[in-house]
Amino acid sequence: MAVFEVNHPLVKHKLGLIRQHDISTKDFRELASEIARLLTYEATKDLETEPETITGWNGPVKVERIKGKKITVVPILRAGLGMMDGVLDLIPSARVSVVGLYRNEETLEPVAYYEKFTSNINDRTALILDPMLATGGSLVACINMLKKAGCTSIRGLFLVAVPEGIERVQKEHPDVDIYVASIDEKLNENGYILPGLGDAGDKIFGTK
Ligand code: PRP
Ligand code: URA
Repeated sequence: MAVFEVNHPLVKHKLGLIRQHDISTKDFRELASEIARLLTYEATKDLETEPETITGWNGPVKVERIKGKKITVVPILRAGLGMMDGVLDLIPSARVSVVGLYRNEETLEPVAYYEKFTSNINDRTALILDPMLATGGSLVACINMLKKAGCTSIRGLFLVAVPEGIERVQKEHPDVDIYVASIDEKLNENGYILPGLGDAGDKIFGTK
């Protein structure tokens, strides 16, 4: 498994803005989407292409087309929805597969409540979307669900992660690559990422 921390200046700048304690729901949503777009650019960098000849304005032109597995985007409800628009801006024809998971606030264990995958998921690369990779429990549960459905090619996109969560996923699913805007320091005693973003779901949906 590879972990890619995307150190692009635009990502760093936008992370600085999204960490602001009194950020509005509107600004948080916009920035989550913009960072997700930049992560998508990185996470699709190695997709293979194949040559094709099309008819251009002045006759035949050789162009490149993406080949191989098509993509399904997998937002983890709720907060993953906040990254979806940004990803679909770059991959507009991607199918969307949805996973519903929340963390039990006391045990921090993930609770699954919804799953709807695109057909032929075994023929697709899954791009899991979630702003936060904390203990790693939610990501491991989501990967388990995808693999059970037959998916064999999986990547995850996150705004912020911590080393302990990454290690857990590395141990349980060494074949899954992770793209993250920032690897932060640690979890606090309540399982929140420090410095982190706070509760990403609440910030995206304007709850609390
Ligand atoms: C948050 C976040 C992840 C999960 C990460 O979701 O969006 O899904 O916690 O934590 P973990 O790595 O320790 O599992 P939350 O449970 O708050 O649900 P929400 O998206 O519905 O707000
Ligand atoms: N979920 C969040 O929304 N924020 C965290 O810091 C950890 C899990």
